[in-house]
Amino acid sequence: ALISMRQMLDHAAEFGYGVPAFNVNNLEQMRAIMMAADDTDSPVIVQASAGARKYAGAPFLRHLILAAIEEFPHIPVVMHQDHGTSPAICQRSIQLGFSSVMMDGSLREDGKTPADYDYNVDVTRRVVEMAHACGVSVEGELGVLGSLETGQAGEEDGVGAEGTLTHDQLLTDPEEAAHFVKETQVDALAIACGTSHGAYKFTRPPTGDILAIERIKEIHARIPNTHLVMHGSSSVPQDWLAIINEFGGEIPETYGVPVEQIQEGIRHGVRKVNIDTDLRLASTGAIRRYLAKNKAEFDPRKYLAESTKAMYDICKARYEAFGTAGNA
Ligand code: G3H
Ligand code: 13P
Ligand code: NA
Ligand code: ZN
Repeated sequence: ALISMRQMLDHAAEFGYGVPAFNVNNLEQMRAIMMAADDTDSPVIVQASAGARKYAGAPFLRHLILAAIEEFPHIPVVMHQDHGTSPAICQRSIQLGFSSVMMDGSLREDGKTPADYDYNVDVTRRVVEMAHACGVSVEGELGVLGSLETGQAGEEDGVGAEGTLTHDQLLTDPEEAAHFVKETQVDALAIACGTSHGAYKFTRPPTGDILAIERIKEIHARIPNTHLVMHGSSSVPQDWLAIINEFGGEIPETYGVPVEQIQEGIRHGVRKVNIDTDLRLASTGAIRRYLAKNKAEFDPRKYLAESTKAMYDICKARYEAFGTAGNA
């Protein structure tokens, strides 16, 4: 059944677990996410980005998610719009039937220039007024996402600040977060705590606290009823990088956020954990390996089944690691 983000994350907060929010662009991702949820009894958040809308088109995305709900009626599903860059974009998603939208007012409408606080409050508050009137939840963002190691926002197209960011910009201020929530009434807040989008988060194997865990604790203490969201939460599995490179790929050495760091975040108020890159890597690795080993094969269903299986394994592992399993 389709439910709102507020409903799902209130339950997650009550029982102390996190929910992975997987980006969805195609049938194989959608099926992998749902089959893993079904097998682990997990609630589901699927999110569509601007890039997904460009690739698949809004009607196909919408019906892909509705088809998932029809096939798995017993699983609670949040249909979320990822990184909306304006109130108008959020309004369209609300009209399309999304049960949750993100208004990312941390950046201007170009999705690149860091916005000032007043702009962020203004656009986010307008989206909350519209959305709440329709029973739709809203995620806002405060702070500029970027790696604490590299100072870079990451490589995702369409989202992310340009240039090198200062340490101050890279961590959401707890005091400001409290004001922001009071002024906008958002249900969930994406915070900057050291993660960045894409595959290139860290250049060295992460050890110890690679995220600003203390900062997460401080923010959670100030806004205990607002669900914290961690973007850029892919772990960049080293086994899939090795498979991609073994079968013709050329991806340089790179590291993601260790699952243990995400678990630590969940212990301190993180409820929604955004993951896109890990499914991309698993899918690409599985397809490269299949095609390299089966050179006469040309039925797309054969290699796409490998893609689905690889993504299923990642989804299942995240549902189990984040405590989502058993909560559908
Ligand atoms: O937040 C960014 C997501 O990874 C979506 O990326 O715009 O390439 O679909 P995309
Ligand atoms: P990753 O690039 O780490 O998968 O993050 C995805 C994300 O935050 C989508 O909003
Ligand atoms: Na989001
Ligand atoms: Zn994001």
